[in-house]
Amino acid sequence: MTRFSRRRMTRRREALPGGPLRRLAALVAASSAALLVGCGSAGEERAFDPAANPELARGELLSFACRACHGLAPGDPSPLGPTLHGMLGRRAGSLPGYDYSQALKDSGIVWTEETLDAWLARPDEYIPGNKMAFAGYRSADDRRALIEYLKLQTEKAP
Ligand code: HEC
Repeated sequence: MTRFSRRRMTRRREALPGGPLRRLAALVAASSAALLVGCGSAGEERAFDPAANPELARGELLSFACRACHGLAPGDPSPLGPTLHGMLGRRAGSLPGYDYSQALKDSGIVWTEETLDAWLARPDEYIPGNKMAFAGYRSADDRRALIEYLKLQTEKAP
């Protein structure tokens, strides 16, 4: 049901060529392409059709804040934060080779859609004393879209 209405919204949006959202989406698509070229072997992103998947497209937009500090592919060079590749199902603070805060390592949390949602809403309240400098996304819809996108881009290849 919601799927249906979302699809209708997309159509309506497409009926307005050059609207601000479309221009923004085009800009992001262009810059993410540039990012990929720049990163060379850092890993291919999984493709999707933004028109057919407006939630994933929104998630991609929201993920750019994360990518300032996090890679999404395996072994992505990430001086500011650990790569998020394969994070679902992983214990928080357990990636070898990254210097996590004691707070994250001691949290006992395993990353699932639920724990990720709570973390991304208010990281400093969910795990006090962590060192991720990100205030959080307050909108539950935004977090759901972002998590859908991250699931697609960070899950391990079969
Ligand atoms: C300013 C840099 C920065 C930004 C922006 C940022 N993070 Fe982080 N993130 C970090 C750091 C640093 C850590 C390690 C925290 C610690 O050790 O306490 C971290 C940890 C994490 C972890 C735990 C990883 C693990 O292996 O346990 C997840 C999940 C995560 N971030 C997701 C995100 C997402 C999703 C976003 C975007 C909404 C985001 N982060 C934005 C720097 C950042």
